[in-house]
Amino acid sequence: MQIELPSGIIKGVISGKKKKDSKYDKARIQKILIGNDVFIQLSLFTDKQVFHSNYKENEINNKIIELLETDFNNLELYTNEFIYSYRITSKGKVLNNRRKNNELLSTIDHNKKKKYILEEGTIVPPLIDLGVMLEDGRVVKAQYDKFKQINRFLEIIDDSIKDEKELSIIDFGCGKSYLTFILYYYFKEIKKININIIGLDLKEDVIDNCNKIAEKYKYANLKFYKGNITDYAKTNRVDMIVTLHACDTATDYALYHAINMKCKYIFSVPCCQHEINNQLSTDILHPINKFGILKDRFSALLTDSIRANILQYYGYKTNVMEFVDFENSPKNLLIRATLTNNSLNNKIKEEIINLVNEYNIKQTLYELTIKNEK
Ligand SMILES: C[S@@+](CC[C@H](N)C(=O)[O-])C[C@H]1O[C@@H](n2cnc3c(N)ncnc32)[C@H](O)[C@@H]1O
Repeated sequence: MQIELPSGIIKGVISGKKKKDSKYDKARIQKILIGNDVFIQLSLFTDKQVFHSNYKENEINNKIIELLETDFNNLELYTNEFIYSYRITSKGKVLNNRRKNNELLSTIDHNKKKKYILEEGTIVPPLIDLGVMLEDGRVVKAQYDKFKQINRFLEIIDDSIKDEKELSIIDFGCGKSYLTFILYYYFKEIKKININIIGLDLKEDVIDNCNKIAEKYKYANLKFYKGNITDYAKTNRVDMIVTLHACDTATDYALYHAINMKCKYIFSVPCCQHEINNQLSTDILHPINKFGILKDRFSALLTDSIRANILQYYGYKTNVMEFVDFENSPKNLLIRATLTNNSLNNKIKEEIINLVNEYNIKQTLYELTIKNEK
């Protein structure tokens, strides 16, 4: 068949069965990223099942043409710039046209746009239910910052984990669980890792909603529980904990559980560190404290310094990094820690004790760990 297809396909639909009794009803095409490699996923739909297969970008056009020769008459292909339509007539003639693609909702210039693990246009079904994405994979403009945050979070996790065949993860303070669903989708559907994820949050309504969405997509190893992080009691092995903006000392309890469970991986973005803020009253700190914003920042930095050092003390290789820019979220520090050593580092312990004593403060993770050591 003489038909020239465009390059740079991001998605498409093949429809219009040639014969009533053809096995497949329609096909979808979707650009996806697996690790750093781009593939085009072809999904063939029967009335009960969907069959997925992945092609290199330079292979997909031949496959599409093959389907147009044998099974279907209509094709619509999207690139970032254009939407291309093709129709095969009953006499086998190919009619085609092209129109501008005005569909992407985000206003970001695509040339400047950073490549994410889950690029806009990659359909993550639960994110549609959660109102982050539209049916065709476009990101809702008001949710773009959140989409960027969870994508960056995922990228950092993906960078850090090596050769894991199975992972058990807890998302402490999961809230609406955008991150939790993305993690599940990414590891289960794309990386094909044996995954088990629990989301824990205080709010009953969000937990009920998340469980409904997980059931809808038959995500059997994704469960949400209502509960307080403070009271969390370990049941099975946990390899990784994540927290994204878990409030104030909730982050400390999450880190405490991770240390106790000897979790291999910790990814934690703290939020609203009020605890120390209310205690910083020494005269020496007056030049800082008299400026509210400086007091806030100083107490947040002090809190996260103590947390990061405590993780180091317990044998975690620890980094503190800005995971998104400040414009995206001012709460943009991520503590990344990987357990690499089972011995305690007493030099670091001494430094932490000195720091805490210097400012005469009670810090929850410190109280739960070093202060509480026998
Ligand atoms: C700012 S939201 C972040 C939600 C989600 N991680 C995200 O980034 O979209 C913080 C969440 O932590 C939950 N949370 C705060 N303290 C908690 C606690 N002690 N136990 C369980 N959940 C808690 C809140 O109910 C809330 O849903």
